[in-house]
Amino acid sequence: MKIGVFDSGIGGTTILNAIKKLLPSEEYFYIADSKNCPYGEKSDTELYEIAKANVDALKKWGAKIIVIACNTATTKCIAKLRQDYPELKFVGTEPAIKLAVATNAKNILVMATPGTIKSERTKALLEENQRPHQNIQLLACPGLANTIELNLPKDNFNAINKKLEELLKNIKKPDVIVLGCTHYSLIKNEILAFFPETILIDGNEGVANRVQKLLH
Ligand code: DGL
Repeated sequence: MKIGVFDSGIGGTTILNAIKKLLPSEEYFYIADSKNCPYGEKSDTELYEIAKANVDALKKWGAKIIVIACNTATTKCIAKLRQDYPELKFVGTEPAIKLAVATNAKNILVMATPGTIKSERTKALLEENQRPHQNIQLLACPGLANTIELNLPKDNFNAINKKLEELLKNIKKPDVIVLGCTHYSLIKNEILAFFPETILIDGNEGVANRVQKLLH
């Protein structure tokens, strides 16, 4: 089966690798749409047009399953994409709030792009899952995905750490952090350096499991 995957750049490779680990024999197409990075700071209409162009390309290459390896594009575009492309199957990536809540942790921090944090879907995920004793803090991280996109390939960790310092300096150490952007899964060690022993959770394995279920 041909499986198409896209993200605004290298972030979605964390999802691609998780899927390939489960399903090594499928054929994959990956769009690293870095010319449009960051997705998290685009308007809804602009982002939908970008997502649609990626889906059109993947469809042209024969993909039957499209994996949106991006929380921002999923929370904002997946419902409309499903309506507009009924012939394709879509699997999305959402902030793993449900998994974090299930740990029963008291203080949970959700890091994501401004677009994901503001989305109706994130609001709904909180309403559906939050338990009364839990404190869930949403942290929009403008510029972080782009800083990772530009600096990680060059091993420029100074720029990444500087950005993290700016974003995390006033945040109290949480018990669990939800990595609500696929780019952030690439800098787990750097985030852990700020909050040692905090549990980091992303939705990558869940996405891979859903693709496997769809295939079988
Ligand atoms: N990696 C994406 C996400 O999961 C997009 C980051 C961006 O381009 O802003 O949200």
